[in-house]
Amino acid sequence: MSDKTVVLTGITTTGTPHLGNYVGAIRPSIEASLNTEVQSYYFLADYHALVKCHDPERVHQSSVENAATWLALGLDTDNAIFYRQSDIPEIMELNWILSCMTAKGLMNRSHAYKASVAENTESGEQDPDKGINMGLFTYPTLMAADILMFNAHKVPVGKDQTQHLEMTRVIAQRFNHHFGEYFIIPEIVLGEESAILPGLDGRKMSKSYNNTIPLFLPEKKFRKLIMKIKTNSLEPGVPKDPEGCTLFAIYNSLATREEVAVLRNCYAEGIAWGEMKQFLFEYLNNIFSGPRENYNALLENPTEIETILLRGAERARDYASPFMQRLRVATGIRPLV
Ligand code: TRP
Repeated sequence: MSDKTVVLTGITTTGTPHLGNYVGAIRPSIEASLNTEVQSYYFLADYHALVKCHDPERVHQSSVENAATWLALGLDTDNAIFYRQSDIPEIMELNWILSCMTAKGLMNRSHAYKASVAENTESGEQDPDKGINMGLFTYPTLMAADILMFNAHKVPVGKDQTQHLEMTRVIAQRFNHHFGEYFIIPEIVLGEESAILPGLDGRKMSKSYNNTIPLFLPEKKFRKLIMKIKTNSLEPGVPKDPEGCTLFAIYNSLATREEVAVLRNCYAEGIAWGEMKQFLFEYLNNIFSGPRENYNALLENPTEIETILLRGAERARDYASPFMQRLRVATGIRPLV
């Protein structure tokens, strides 16, 4: 294996990719995928999806949509390794070994698990673990396996994932301490605050708030959704504050500094909300209409997507398979003679 820096991140396949995903994760990852100085790994975390989603159609459809989106936007799959978590059986094997090196108490402290328990307790529920499956409880060990399987140096994630990364580091250290220095301790690369977009209602754009703007809606529907973005009720001609304005925040996340300065002026001069929305629609449509065509073409030809993913899995296993063999031996799982 070369000594390139390894960058790895996962995409949970429960939803349809939206503008918030684009700005926060997809765009920076695709840019990084072009850099031949690093070895990037991007994967569809479909086993993670099962924790939250028990609708097989949704999980499958989301895998297709996420893969098509990343490819349509220009992910360099010759350079980056793009695969499906479930195509790498070694990850699940490592998950078990890591589980046996993970303190249950560490998992008890997981924010995601604790939030679900708190919800139960607050609603007066007798059983604090109601509706909580083991997948949620051990979510962090599977994530650790995703990362440690490829000895990633850097893991770019949103703020909500930092605790998972800290746990990965703890688990890796414990394994190394006991069995020898097998794992690189991964570094957390936190996305910029400015890369967090507000959604239709002004809260953080998230599938759990149902306020997302999907990337590749047909043009008419896309325009309709932009028109639905919540604003205040200031009349045309009245100066408007760009701070806290969702339309402005979206434009700001994509446009150049000069373009943003021009728009700031328009706000000061009292641009009408209708006009601003039309402007934003045209701006976004201009960026996404080409990729939208690629996307639709890919959806019509899923075999092409499948081929790319399988090739990615093969490349990923070229690393994972011999490494897993070493890890098994390290723990005493090996032939008798
Ligand atoms: N849990 C991450 C999320 O919801 C997705 C993910 C799964 C991931 N495995 C990973 C991210 C490994 C980084 C590294 O966003």
